[in-house]
Amino acid sequence: MKFFIDSADLSEIKEAEAMGVLDGVTTNPSLCAKVGVRDFEGHVAKICEMVAGDVSAEVVSTTYAEMLEEGRRLATIADNVVVKIPLIKDGIKAIKTFSEEGIRTNCTLCFSSTQALIAAKAGATYISPFLGRLDDISHDGLALIEDIVTIYTNYSFQTEVLAASIRHPMHVVECARMGADVATMPLSVMEGLLKHPLTDSGLEKFLADWDKLQASLK
Ligand code: E4P
Repeated sequence: MKFFIDSADLSEIKEAEAMGVLDGVTTNPSLCAKVGVRDFEGHVAKICEMVAGDVSAEVVSTTYAEMLEEGRRLATIADNVVVKIPLIKDGIKAIKTFSEEGIRTNCTLCFSSTQALIAAKAGATYISPFLGRLDDISHDGLALIEDIVTIYTNYSFQTEVLAASIRHPMHVVECARMGADVATMPLSVMEGLLKHPLTDSGLEKFLADWDKLQASLK
């Protein structure tokens, strides 16, 4: 399972990269707004230099022709750019064209299996089901991940399932159980994956006992 950080904050990306388990980055316009990005393409270039894995950069156009123009430009920033396209009709058409041109795509804002099926047929590199936002409106986000994994497996679609809108470590565990290819998560969730109170108290006791031993040997 690949781990992506869901952030446009360079210090968070640096922190996640330093853990040595980072496989890529996802950004979106809201995440860029959160950190006040002024020069979007320059910002994406910086992220692509920091991380060897795939970096999703989202288009803000909503028509086929404009998405093609914007996406082609984003794809020239670096080899590891993945063009993020919203799951609307023009977006699906753009994904199909990009797949024919060899430009990799992340189809975003997916909330149903039917949408995921269409995106895979269009040749999306990644599909991003937003599980947290489904949970927020009393739908079962994890059930959607499971359905998409089953459907893609049934037909050997190459599109990778990128579980998005992850809110807590157990979302990651369940996605891993279901066979999602990627989980994109905030830094807090990534750090939460390694935390356990028994690890902390166990380490404290080991170190205290070691100190006692050293003192007794003096
Ligand atoms: C990632 O690609 C998505 O844009 C992101 O996970 C959305 O998460 P949110 O629902 O926390 O905004």
